[in-house]
Amino acid sequence: MTKPVRKAIFPVAGLGTRLLPATKTMPKEMLTVVDRPLIQYAVDEAREAGIEQMIFVTGRGKSSLVDYFDMGFELEATMSKAGKSLDPLAPAKTGFGEIVSVRQQQPLGLGHAIWCARHIVGDEPFAVLLPDDLMVGQPGALKQMVDAYATLGGNIVCAQEVPADKTASYGIITPGETRGDATEVRGLVEKPKPEDAPSRLGVVGRYILQPEVMDILGRGEKGAGGEIQLTDGMAKLIGRQPFHALKVDAVRHDCGDKAGFVLANLAIALDRPDLRPMIEDYLASR
Ligand code: UTP
Repeated sequence: MTKPVRKAIFPVAGLGTRLLPATKTMPKEMLTVVDRPLIQYAVDEAREAGIEQMIFVTGRGKSSLVDYFDMGFELEATMSKAGKSLDPLAPAKTGFGEIVSVRQQQPLGLGHAIWCARHIVGDEPFAVLLPDDLMVGQPGALKQMVDAYATLGGNIVCAQEVPADKTASYGIITPGETRGDATEVRGLVEKPKPEDAPSRLGVVGRYILQPEVMDILGRGEKGAGGEIQLTDGMAKLIGRQPFHALKVDAVRHDCGDKAGFVLANLAIALDRPDLRPMIEDYLASR
């Protein structure tokens, strides 16, 4: 019997330097894709997957991420008085205690950010969602992973084939046996050069992990880029616990990158019947 995945960590304390100057005072995860911030897409995906508690790992200048999910008393009162519909605010509503936040005082790496949530996670399996990886799928990527977890158990990372010349931007998997969409993970290496990469199967921003990874991350060992890497921590679980990479049926937009962010806006706008005609007209006129 696997314990259900009820908690999800959203590490949102990074500096977002690839999107400067936009991210100088604005958290990357608050950047808007069409009409909602990236964090909203990630929280919606987690809810659909049955997650009950959203844990934001924040840092300095990131309070707007938590405020966004608060009740907007003044806004609601003013809009109601003016006879405006409150429907546009509905997605940003959360239940009492559904969102909690912890601080990562210094951005020491993704692995360190995850470790900062250890007391809230306790001894339960948990999900991790990187909101700048916007995943568009039906059902959502995390729901597909939670469904696979019911039979696979252990640890599951979301994986995609990445271009051969881009392995240095990903954690790369040494693959074992593949059954359907799930591949056994025999090894993990963070940001290898193309000539050192064991495959082109790269980890993207969704994970289901067992709590034992927290003790490993707590050792504070530094890896690629001098950061405490989640990939290195996860690699130490291989052989001790089941570990799989799952290819999900979803499109990934890397919104931590300028071109990826623009393409995400375009793709999501084209999926919206109210916006599609205008965007198509514009593209046709170019
Ligand atoms: P990235 O590798 O995209 O780093 O982090 P970044 O700092 O956000 O962006 P760039 O590379 O400078 O443009 C992946 C995820 O891990 C979080 C980020 O917020 C992002 O969601 N993160 C990273 C932390 O929370 N803390 C860290 O110390 C590092």
